[in-house]
Amino acid sequence: MKVSITVNGQERTDDVEPRMLLAHWLRDACGLTATNIGCDSTSCGACTVVVDGLTVKSCTVLAAQTDGAQVTTLEGLAGPDGELHPVQAAFRAEHGLQCGFCTPGMVLAAIGVLADNPDPSDREVREGLEGNLCRCTGYHNIVRAVQAAAQAGPAAGQVPQAQ
Ligand code: FES
Ligand code: FES
Repeated sequence: MKVSITVNGQERTDDVEPRMLLAHWLRDACGLTATNIGCDSTSCGACTVVVDGLTVKSCTVLAAQTDGAQVTTLEGLAGPDGELHPVQAAFRAEHGLQCGFCTPGMVLAAIGVLADNPDPSDREVREGLEGNLCRCTGYHNIVRAVQAAAQAGPAAGQVPQAQ
């Protein structure tokens, strides 16, 4: 079936199998491989993207379901001059990543946390990110990064297309 999806501000029209997952379409058709697939079963959050302002696990959504939607992946966060999104910058500054596999999903999920709550407590960050698993960091620096990003103000809870 034909779909038209705006990905990182660029509209793409494609023929997709009705059963194709959004995660596979982003990686295989769009070449946006920052969207990782860790479990394929809604458990790990590595595939988290933003669809029309809401964070979703893209292994749980069909590409066809996002027909007409705005999708943001990690590749869409930095500015045209390479300036990092406040959440990306905070993950870097606070050492919120090690191997990096969970990081694209963590960053996008963190933006969702900050969109709902611009000044989250330690516990609120942990609850907001409970659908995203990290096997490396022990989560402490991730929580610290999200709270540091909150200091950047409303931009930390926004994706570029929504600004
Ligand atoms: Fe989607 Fe794990 S790959 S939640
Ligand atoms: Fe390795 Fe999170 S940094 S899984």
